[in-house]
Amino acid sequence: MATRVALAPPMVAVASVAVLLVVCAAASVAGQGQLQVGYYNKTCPAAEQIVRNETTVAIGSSPDLAAALLRLHYHDCFVQGCDASVLLDSTPNNTAEKESLPNGSLRGFDVVARVKDQLEKACPGTVSCADILALMARDAVSLARGPSWPVALGRRDGRTSSAASCGDLPPLHGDIGLVVQAFAAKGLDVKDLAVLSGAHTLGKAHCASYADRLYASATCTTPDPALDARYADRLRMRCPSNSSSTSSTAASELDPGSCTTFDTSYYRHVARRRGLLRSDASLLDHRFTRAYVLQAASGRFDGHFFHDFTVSMAKMAAIGVLTGDQGEIRRKCNVVN
Ligand code: HEM
Repeated sequence: MATRVALAPPMVAVASVAVLLVVCAAASVAGQGQLQVGYYNKTCPAAEQIVRNETTVAIGSSPDLAAALLRLHYHDCFVQGCDASVLLDSTPNNTAEKESLPNGSLRGFDVVARVKDQLEKACPGTVSCADILALMARDAVSLARGPSWPVALGRRDGRTSSAASCGDLPPLHGDIGLVVQAFAAKGLDVKDLAVLSGAHTLGKAHCASYADRLYASATCTTPDPALDARYADRLRMRCPSNSSSTSSTAASELDPGSCTTFDTSYYRHVARRRGLLRSDASLLDHRFTRAYVLQAASGRFDGHFFHDFTVSMAKMAAIGVLTGDQGEIRRKCNVVN
């Protein structure tokens, strides 16, 4: 294996070591962001169980919701920090994040609201919507047969949300350099990018998100050469023309054949030039992310990927958090108090 670079500890890592490392990672996040594992142990001991139960029911009846809940947390954290600003509704004087173009297909708001209602009944004014998003993302991954990890808690909810801030999300059509930059701006490195892109093992993308890769256009004289030709043929049947006239309801699996199971098969598709989004394909254009994709695609890397994912998620979940007296604990997640 010529390209085996120092991406992760050797394959001898066993489950107990992984668990220990995750606990250490969570502890260091707690140190940096004043978040704590078990934060609600005294004030709302049932909090994590309530979230888990509601999430289990929701995903039990709609397995594709696991993807939606994971994505909600990511879109929350990248824009103004993990402060649940993504959940706020627009007001007559303000267009909220929800209404921005990149957030157009976010789902799962109703499930988050149901969880919040249960928590308000059990412990009024105690558990933040930002913490709910972090816990639901963790539970969604583990219910989809992925890893679980201790989530450091104690985030407070923001009081503002602006569609204009959504430019902080990595650009949909950007090359690897721009995606690396967008991650770096949030304190995430190239390894986090390779690892967190693995979230695309779950869920679907609509034609509008990738149709430009399938057709020549004013700016590109050919379809995207980075896309496997036979796969592109299949995708063109789902998206018969380029974006604007394409039905926005048609969606394709980001990890074909396994889009409700959290595993490494996403990386096998990317390695075979079948990454659906530009950002997936572009992982092959950087030395480190390419090496990570090829290792994860080897079929002998699942334990490493699961461990890496828990570490990178803990980093992402600590971006720009509000703690202490900052922000508030919203009573309803879609409006400020
Ligand atoms: C690397 C930069 C990324 C870009 C450019 C990107 C972009 C996208 C786009 C365009 C979609 C499809 C939207 C649609 O057509 O409806 C999508 C779906 C998704 N993304 Fe990402 N994403 C990125 C990273 C991430 C990260 C870091 C996570 C989570 C940790 C994530 C989780 C998801 C999930 C789970 C879905 C499927 C959602 C569903 O089925 O409802 N993405 N992403």
